[in-house]
Amino acid sequence: MTTATARAPFDAAASGGPPLGAAEFGEIAAIMQSDARIHLVEGKMTLVHGRLSRRLRMHGLDSFKDYVRLVRSDAEERAAMVVALTTNHTHFFRENHHFEHFREKTIPQLKTHARNRAVRIWSAGCSSGEEVYSIAMCLLGTDRAAASWLRNADIKLLATDLAPHVVESVRRAVYPTATVAPIPEPYRRAWLRPAGEDFEIAAEARALVTARVLNLFEAWPMRQLYDVIFCRNVMIYFDDRAKAELEQRFVDMLVPGGHLYIGHSERLVGPSANVMTGCGQTIYVKQGGHA
Ligand SMILES: C[S@@+](CC[C@H](N)C(=O)[O-])C[C@H]1O[C@@H](n2cnc3c(N)ncnc32)[C@H](O)[C@@H]1O
Repeated sequence: MTTATARAPFDAAASGGPPLGAAEFGEIAAIMQSDARIHLVEGKMTLVHGRLSRRLRMHGLDSFKDYVRLVRSDAEERAAMVVALTTNHTHFFRENHHFEHFREKTIPQLKTHARNRAVRIWSAGCSSGEEVYSIAMCLLGTDRAAASWLRNADIKLLATDLAPHVVESVRRAVYPTATVAPIPEPYRRAWLRPAGEDFEIAAEARALVTARVLNLFEAWPMRQLYDVIFCRNVMIYFDDRAKAELEQRFVDMLVPGGHLYIGHSERLVGPSANVMTGCGQTIYVKQGGHA
């Protein structure tokens, strides 16, 4: 899968650490492809070098050849390498047009469904939780009175990611001042509590969310269908084949009329696009619903 074969060894002089050769980069890229379907192109050599140099130091190794040898024989280090090479950038209310749509179009439908049945929402590739708590705050509204409809409803939010350390951050639900800055003031007032120098997400929002480690290309343990799936800025790391496969699984996982929100630079690439209708910027609804 890698395109790194014809490249001269990566010169690491500027950033320190031993050089990363094309052969080792190729092996690392092959592992990323097989374990997480993350497609590492040659242009990522600097990133790979920077992130993995730390792991070489941790293990007292002075060459990438030795590191790759370690990864081949040590499943734990292999998993740690995959996690080290994920990109976890996120923020609250990222791509705000999705939250506007969710509030104005999707939540009214969910409120109707919630009178008769369970409602399920999934943040797939959730990183440290800013996405799922933005969704939770939209559901809760801006005060306790607005949140009253949730009290008698069976609504659950699932947040999953491959990387255990970010899943732990979702569970902790504590964020520094700069991180909570993008949260609109009325939500901040209603659903943030001071926690030392940081802020904690209020218990009402945390109670809606379950966080789990999950590789999207492994079996999904969920038995129920989902009303809404947010999978944003995750599929950009996959090749078209992996994207199409994942999209199909998302579509199969949605109820008819369910919504899929994807990242601003992403498009539906596979046959699943035929059963999804665009209803906003990078927002799709599964055909067959009544709403
Ligand atoms: C850039 S973050 C996106 C976070 C959030 N969805 C957003 O848009 O702000 C991408 C996340 O996808 C996760 N990820 C990448 N490959 C994955 C896979 N195969 N299975 C599950 N999660 C994966 C990464 O660990 C990372 O936290």
